[in-house]
Amino acid sequence: MHEPVALTDGVYWIGVDDRETALFEALWPLPEGVSYNAYIIKDEKTALIDTVKRGYLDDYLDKISQVCDCQAVDYLIINHMEPDHSGSIRQLLALHPELKIVGNKKTTELLAGYYGVTGNVIEVADGEELSLGKRCFKFFHTPMVHWPETMMSFEQQSGILFSGDAFGGFGALDGGVFDDEVDVSLFESETLRYFSNIVGKFSPMVQNALAKLKDLEIKSIASTHGPVWRSDPKYVFNAYDRWSRHVTEPGAVVIYGSMYANTQRMAEAVARGLALAGVKQVKVHNSAVTHISYLLSDIWRYRGLALGSCTYDVQLFPPMRHLVQMLKSKQMKGRNLGIFGSYGWSGGAVKELKEFSELSGWELVEPVVETRCAPGRDALGMCLELGEKLGRVITKG
Ligand code: FEO
Repeated sequence: MHEPVALTDGVYWIGVDDRETALFEALWPLPEGVSYNAYIIKDEKTALIDTVKRGYLDDYLDKISQVCDCQAVDYLIINHMEPDHSGSIRQLLALHPELKIVGNKKTTELLAGYYGVTGNVIEVADGEELSLGKRCFKFFHTPMVHWPETMMSFEQQSGILFSGDAFGGFGALDGGVFDDEVDVSLFESETLRYFSNIVGKFSPMVQNALAKLKDLEIKSIASTHGPVWRSDPKYVFNAYDRWSRHVTEPGAVVIYGSMYANTQRMAEAVARGLALAGVKQVKVHNSAVTHISYLLSDIWRYRGLALGSCTYDVQLFPPMRHLVQMLKSKQMKGRNLGIFGSYGWSGGAVKELKEFSELSGWELVEPVVETRCAPGRDALGMCLELGEKLGRVITKG
C-alpha cells in the first residue's frame, strides 16, 4: 500500500509490508510475509509512533509526507526498540534532528546501545500523559512484552491503544489494514504463532500488562504487526489473556522424530487412541518436517502433548532435542504429557523425555512406551492405550 490509511480523523497507519524476509528474527518462517506497522497522529503537534525495519524508510517517509510536511513532526514515540520497528531511527534523525523522542529509561539505554543516539529523549513515567492538542496519550510501561523497554501508548480521545508487538501477528496485510478488511482466520492463527514463539515466554509480564489495561475503554488495538483490531478488539485482548494464563483447548498434539517410520507408527497409534477417546482436535507433526514455530504454536493451543522419538547418537533425535530445549525455555504450564520412543541397540531418547517430563511439572500420562527396533503388536497396543488415556484426561479436564 502506498497511501496512509486513516484509523480516525488525523490518525493514520503508515506501515509497510515485507514479503522479502524469509525468517523473522532469522528464526521464524514468514510464508505470508509480515507487516511493520507504524502510525502518525496529526494535531496541534504531530507525533510518529514507531518506525519501520531498515530498508523501508523511503516508503515510510513517503507516507508521512502524504499526511503532513515532514518538517512539522514534533515527536517520535518509541513503543518498542526491536530493530523491526526501530531500524529506521538513525536515518530518520539524520533527516530530522529536531525530533523529540518519547520513550522511557530503558528506551534511552537501547537507543544509545543500538544506534549511538543520545539526548533529545523525553523519558515518560508509567501512567504519564502527553498532549498533542485535542489528542492526548497516556503511556503504560509493559516491560518484557516483548523487551524491557516496551510500552504502550493509549490515545484517550479515540480509544486507540498502540500496543507494540502485543496482539500482533505474522502475515503481510495485502491491502487490508483492519480486522474487518482481511482474512481474519489467517491472522488469528498467526497471532498465536507470534505469541507462542516471541512473547509467550514472558506470560507473567503479559498478565501484568493486561492488568494495567483492563479498565481502559479500548476501541481499537493498533499493534506493530498484523491488522488493526477495530471491529472486535476484545477478541485479541481475551486471547492474550487466555494464552498468558496457559488456558488450553481440549485437543492434543502428537509430535515425533522418526528415521525409518517405526516411531511414526507409534505416533499414529497414539493419535488413534486419542480419536477413540473422543478428542477431535488432534494434530500429528513430524518434527523433522514441520517448522518448530508451528509445533510451539499448536502446543500452546492444546492441553495434550505426546512426544515420541527414536534414538540418535544415544540421545533424542536432533529435531526432538531442539523441541525439548525450546519447551524448557518457553515454560508453558499445565499440559498433560505422554511419551514414547524407540531405539536400536541402546536407549537414550525415552530416558531424556522422562527427564523432561520431571522437569516440566506436567502431568505424565502412563504408560510410557519404549520399544526396541520396530514396534510389535504389544508396543502399538500400549501406544493406543496411551492415546486413549491421554484423551480421557483431556476430555474430562
Ligand atoms: Fe516486532 Fe519485538 O518486535
